[in-house]
Amino acid sequence: MCGIVGYIGVKPALPVLLEGLRRLEYRGYDSAGVALLGEPLWLRRAVGRVSDLVQAAREAPEATVGIAHTRWATHGGVTEANAHPHLDAASRIAVVHNGIIENMTALRAQLTSEGVAFRSETDTEVLPHLVRRHYEGDPVDAVQRALAHIRGTYGIVVLFADHPELLVVARNGSPLVVGVGEGETVVASDPQAVVQHTRRVVYLQDRELAVVTRAGVEVRGLDGAPVDLNVELIDGDYDVANREGFPHFMLKEIHEQPRSVRRCLRGRVQSEDGMAKLGGFQMTPRDLAAIQRIVCIGCGTSYHAGMAGAMAIEALARIPARAEIASEFRHRHPIVMRDALFLAISQSGETADTLGAIQEVQLKGGEVLGVVNVVGSTIARTCGRGVYLHSGPEVAVASTKAFTSQVTALLLLTLMLARTRDLSLPRGQEVAEALASAPEKVAHYLANPGPVDAAVELIRDARYVLFLGRGFSFPVALEGALKLKEVAYVPCEAYPAGEMKHGPIAMLEQGTPVVCVVPQDAQRDKAISNMREVQARGAHIIAVHTEGDDEVASLATVSLPVPPIADFASPLVTVLPLQLLAYQAGIALGRDVDKPRNLAKSVTVE
Ligand code: M6R
Repeated sequence: MCGIVGYIGVKPALPVLLEGLRRLEYRGYDSAGVALLGEPLWLRRAVGRVSDLVQAAREAPEATVGIAHTRWATHGGVTEANAHPHLDAASRIAVVHNGIIENMTALRAQLTSEGVAFRSETDTEVLPHLVRRHYEGDPVDAVQRALAHIRGTYGIVVLFADHPELLVVARNGSPLVVGVGEGETVVASDPQAVVQHTRRVVYLQDRELAVVTRAGVEVRGLDGAPVDLNVELIDGDYDVANREGFPHFMLKEIHEQPRSVRRCLRGRVQSEDGMAKLGGFQMTPRDLAAIQRIVCIGCGTSYHAGMAGAMAIEALARIPARAEIASEFRHRHPIVMRDALFLAISQSGETADTLGAIQEVQLKGGEVLGVVNVVGSTIARTCGRGVYLHSGPEVAVASTKAFTSQVTALLLLTLMLARTRDLSLPRGQEVAEALASAPEKVAHYLANPGPVDAAVELIRDARYVLFLGRGFSFPVALEGALKLKEVAYVPCEAYPAGEMKHGPIAMLEQGTPVVCVVPQDAQRDKAISNMREVQARGAHIIAVHTEGDDEVASLATVSLPVPPIADFASPLVTVLPLQLLAYQAGIALGRDVDKPRNLAKSVTVE
């Protein structure tokens, strides 16, 4: 979603800003823009990709100060006029903004009545006009006073033509990080655009304002109160990923899963003790034993991983566990029990809904631990404790390797919880062994993925596709349907197989493709009955099943076998054919699989 870069230093600003925007492209956006210091400020914006902005910005003036933005439309269409930066009427104040200004209608009306002529449909444009209204020569005071009128979320960077020596930065609910280099300072919404310059950073907190100069940064509260500077060194893998010879990031990331699952397991499985160790949880066996319920919170793919994890926790540790969609959970005045452990699951660590849910739990005195991929992300820092997935950068908008790593991390936690309860040593050793062997099983399937092409032929022109699964395979069915919608735009939905007869069966007709996820587990026989119900309506079955299960294979038009694995770990392999199915369907239909329409990698607005 929207990305911010600001630079003040000794180098030409434009290449730094454009490179920063390129590094934020993975977040998803629809237009981009840049403003450079000048008399008046120099502005270029473009609809489309950063490469379009590069063309538009060919004749830029020399400047060592500037701000830039990638926009994901919320208020107003995808047009050049709506792209950021936005300027005041005299083109002497420029603002880039992430977040949403909730009282923009009232502010626009008020500013219009005072004679301001708006040039865009955005909420953001109120900011430069408001700052102008309060500007009496002191840029920091003007921003502070302008923000006192704002309700909503923001991360902003403000550039003043009259003050070439500084940028003013402020945050409320939308992340900003300031990188402090030698004679140069870089501001961005994501460390990804900072690390190539410096790893010394200051993360702004909510309701903080920073004055950024070539010499560094000074932070204060929005009320002007001084704030101690906390300069951190960021570690973590921020290299811009390359496709390693694959035609798309999505395919590369699917094939990376044997490695990413292995990285997630490394040093965490204790085979002899039939135990797992997640140091970042900082929990003793006594702490673990005190947990009476678990709530996994996430969105999209992370929510699906949370469902699979919650099922494993209930099955093996016998602790009541459930998954919650973050955007629903946070707004329904949730009950936060003192004996509950909340887990915030997120690949990016920046998802606004998940962050909001965490804050709601924390406000009610609850304990939330992160299950996060991006090191140092807002969710990781807000939780303070948790487990990193170590998947490496996930670039494709459709999440793939993060899902298998999230499930893996939750299974490690399951084993820890289960062993502090009733799980015996031999049974713990079996679970540890199943986890340790998962990367080979993932590799085994990917080396021979079966007739995915034939499955694509069944679904590519379908008006409707139904995904079915029971137990651990239901979150997998949901995830398969989400992937197919996201990257191929094929209408589909997922249901628990036993629920089909209560409604969706009415959608089945001759030739309707139905994807059945039926590994060899306790639910298999019931799932076979559901497959027969599908078959009786003339629908075509694409079956994901355990290798050698001839009965399931015989019911399918296309059969996609996966290696045998313990039921609780089955999502790690059954999801793989569904990821490939979505990818190949997207390619067959000519979609932009790495950057599907309307989607953003990091969903930083509610
Ligand atoms: O970064 P997060 O895991 O918090 O993101 C959550 C969802 O936005 C994300 O999983 C989304 O559904 C993906 N595009 C799924 O492929």
